[in-house]
Amino acid sequence: MIVVGSDHGGYELKMAVLELLRKRAVECVDFGTDGSNSVDYPDFAAKVAAAVSSGDAQLGILICGTGIGMSISANKFSGVRAALVHDEFTAQMAREHNNANILAMGGRILTIEQGKKLVEVWLDAEFEGGRHQNRLDKITAIEQQVIKG
Ligand code: RB5
Repeated sequence: MIVVGSDHGGYELKMAVLELLRKRAVECVDFGTDGSNSVDYPDFAAKVAAAVSSGDAQLGILICGTGIGMSISANKFSGVRAALVHDEFTAQMAREHNNANILAMGGRILTIEQGKKLVEVWLDAEFEGGRHQNRLDKITAIEQQVIKG
């Protein structure tokens, strides 16, 4: 399951992404926001990241104006690897090298078509494992140290 959230700056792209996921028959849940009224991005990042962190959802997509606030917020959650992507290359690397479980995008940076394309590239790419898994293990080790410290 993919959980999807945005603030007002990402609302329009979020609705287009949900339509794309439904067309692809991907199970998805809309965690808001529900319109263009100004809201606070950490509230929506927390809902999506908590679902991914707990394992209730396998993947998440977060969209704000730039994607920056969403990625900063989501990466506070244990086990979350949120990647802010701007183009097809970063979307592909986010999966192949970083195995990002949350995709963050900027609704005020990308066109609707660009944003949908980045979602497709990220979904269709595959994690390469190997040396990249070793690096993810090091991220997990850092996370555990920080929690203990
Ligand atoms: C909201 O104006 C804007 O700050 C937000 O959408 C996002 O870009 C934050 O990182």
